[in-house]
Amino acid sequence: MASGQDRIPAKMTAIAISEPGGPRVLKPETRDVPVPGPGEILIRVRAAGINRPDVQQRKGVYPPPPGASDLPGLEASGEVAALGDEISRWRVGDRVCALTPGGGYAEYAKVHAGSVLPLPAGFTHTEAAAVPENYFTVWHNVFERGALKSGETLLVHGGSSGIGTTAIQLASAFGAHVVTTAGSQEKCDACLKLGADRAINYREEDFVAAVKDATGGKGANVILDMVGGDYVARNYEAAAVEGRIVQIATQSGAVASTDFSKMMAKRLTHTGSMLRPRTVEFKAAIAAALEAQVWPLLGTRKVAPVMDMIFPLKEAWRAHERMEDGDHIGKIVLDVG
Ligand SMILES: NC(=O)c1ccc[n+]([C@@H]2O[C@H](COP(=O)([O-])OP(=O)(O)OC[C@H]3O[C@@H](n4cnc5c(N)ncnc54)[C@H](OP(=O)(O)O)[C@@H]3O)[C@@H](O)[C@H]2O)c1
Repeated sequence: MASGQDRIPAKMTAIAISEPGGPRVLKPETRDVPVPGPGEILIRVRAAGINRPDVQQRKGVYPPPPGASDLPGLEASGEVAALGDEISRWRVGDRVCALTPGGGYAEYAKVHAGSVLPLPAGFTHTEAAAVPENYFTVWHNVFERGALKSGETLLVHGGSSGIGTTAIQLASAFGAHVVTTAGSQEKCDACLKLGADRAINYREEDFVAAVKDATGGKGANVILDMVGGDYVARNYEAAAVEGRIVQIATQSGAVASTDFSKMMAKRLTHTGSMLRPRTVEFKAAIAAALEAQVWPLLGTRKVAPVMDMIFPLKEAWRAHERMEDGDHIGKIVLDVG
């Protein structure tokens, strides 16, 4: 038996995907409490973040990777409830947040210890649950893959999303200029408040022309794109010489046609990644970088998750409805109690 497991109930409430479909397929179920294996810890979940990939999983178009829980939920916060073998850093009762491979929408979740971080100083559980998925994703894609440097310009599409609000704040905190796109004036205003130098309402303004205008004709050094489709060709236009374009989703389509002479003329790099299927070692390396470089900024609230709405665990379907309505700004979180 894992250390601490004797005090844990055998059963828990979790939100399962009863069948692929709309928000109402998210239903409370009684499940066995997971038992942590070597290198894993069990978290008594207090709050769980909602992410767009959860919506995709619910619809049946983003299946969990092999070995991951079938329950939705890519991030959680709570207390360490039990330890598997080979854990030295954590103790039962520690307040933590974690990237979960699935299974965050539940009273208990088991995670690899390398994906666990302490609660940022002064954070509530609902705030901490809003951090892991977005901060791991932005850190890797903007700073490691995109190699954004101080003084450069980052273009963030979907600036009011969980990912976008994180990218705006982190890029500004590390000295970059930020230009962002969003679908309404209210969303643009929120992005400017977070530190964006320019926010483009893409429904009213051509983002390529606006980015050129904002950068004295040079273009963006790094572009974080979750749209794809016709944005691929337009990103090549909006990028600076030696620009890096990082694809993290393709909400407007995964197939695109583009003029590659732009890529050659500007010596562009177009890359991308998906966090969930990566190894536990890879995630542990990001966690270490975040703890060293970003946790101090969270502790002083120089950067912080933008909290949209909080729903009780059993009303996860309402949280998904809110995300799909598309009016949210920042993070939607489940209070697990
Ligand atoms: N690759 C990875 O490892 C990884 C990890 C996590 C998340 N993601 C992806 O990152 C994206 C953001 O995730 P999230 O959880 O932060 O979701 P979210 O808060 O729901 O954000 C989605 C955003 O996309 C924008 N959007 C949607 N369709 C669009 C379109 N056709 N054109 C332009 N903008 C569009 C929306 O803004 P407007 O209302 O302004 O259009 C919205 O702000 C998702 O696509 C998700 O799958 C990728």
